[in-house]
Amino acid sequence: MNPHTCLLRNPPKDLACPRYGLSHIRPYRINRVQRRINCKTEREHRREVSPLKEHPEKKADRQPVEIGSIWEAKERIASHILQTPLLLSPALSEHTGGPVYLKLENLQPTGAFKIRGAANKILSLSPERQKRGVTTFSTGNHGLAVSYMARRFGIPAVVCVSRRVPPEKTDPIRRMGAKLVVHGNGQDDAESQCHRLEWEEGLTLIRPFDDPEVIAGQGTIGLELLEQVPDLGTVIVPLSGGGLFSGIGLAVKSNRPDARMIGVSMEHSAVMHQSLLQGKPVTLQEQDTLADSLLGGIGLENRYTFSMVRRWADETRLVSEKEIAEGMSWMFHQHKMVVEGAAATGLGALLSGRVRSGSQPVVVTISGCNVDPSVLLKAIDAGA
Ligand SMILES: Cc1ncc(COP(=O)(O)O)c(C=O)c1O
Repeated sequence: MNPHTCLLRNPPKDLACPRYGLSHIRPYRINRVQRRINCKTEREHRREVSPLKEHPEKKADRQPVEIGSIWEAKERIASHILQTPLLLSPALSEHTGGPVYLKLENLQPTGAFKIRGAANKILSLSPERQKRGVTTFSTGNHGLAVSYMARRFGIPAVVCVSRRVPPEKTDPIRRMGAKLVVHGNGQDDAESQCHRLEWEEGLTLIRPFDDPEVIAGQGTIGLELLEQVPDLGTVIVPLSGGGLFSGIGLAVKSNRPDARMIGVSMEHSAVMHQSLLQGKPVTLQEQDTLADSLLGGIGLENRYTFSMVRRWADETRLVSEKEIAEGMSWMFHQHKMVVEGAAATGLGALLSGRVRSGSQPVVVTISGCNVDPSVLLKAIDAGA
């Protein structure tokens, strides 16, 4: 019998362990009984089968994200992203009674701001890690951004998504040449699949939001805003895992502590909003929403974004499905632009009066445009 594949139903009697009576056998098929018998934790076992000797994100690396890393990110990603324009919206300004600007991240090459964080993370990896490949889990836009950057640099990429992610987002991921793994009914299922690949194949995990380089990449939007609107009053940011909010919040508040930062999520499954109310990360069941990109948890062991959002948010607000549709419809009719539900949450909040503007300029982050045309047409109808 090969001791490496032994299931320990009839363990040899001569292998004695001081604690459990057995030792030396190193089964590669692990279950609870085997673990107890062999005095081995699951983590120890994983180390043995994983090509990685130790987990890439050691505790010691968990320094708070600093404003300096956003400046570094700005330089690092400059040639890969668009410094997006800021558009004054006369119609919204009239509606709210104060100047309202739109930060057009929908114009990025992948149709969403996510390229900033993905680019900064991938470009920060060692050549060895890049060569080995990357993996990620996503509600779509981050997966697309990772695939785009991976293709530019010839890096193998595996993107894990749940069945909820629409073809509008999964098709381009495939077209970019990334391997797509569809697993489970929610972002958390996709995440567990991704962790498996990280451990077993040694791929580097590019987290969608809870990562210092990703946060710093998204924060470059904040630096651009400070240059574009020197008397910035309020920034409205769609809020899910909080990478976008944390980055912009750090950049803006470090320079203009009086500016208001407002996070907006949909009423259905607003995990960060609930977590802030309860004072700790919580989980919620995912429900259908027009703002599908904002679905997904923040991780019960959230490392950065929960505390950063808690620190920088002056308010968080929820908007209804009707208000999201109104935001999409407004962008289409007033600015002749297509935006996805997640990106329309801030507009919905302003149009409905859930967020009030003052005399100082308000910026609404238009975070993306990747939406299924049939969903867009329905939303335009519903929100008209
Ligand atoms: C278009 C769009 N807007 C906003 C967000 C929220 O970003 P974050 O998860 O960093 O809060 C996402 C996240 O996927 C998104 O795709």
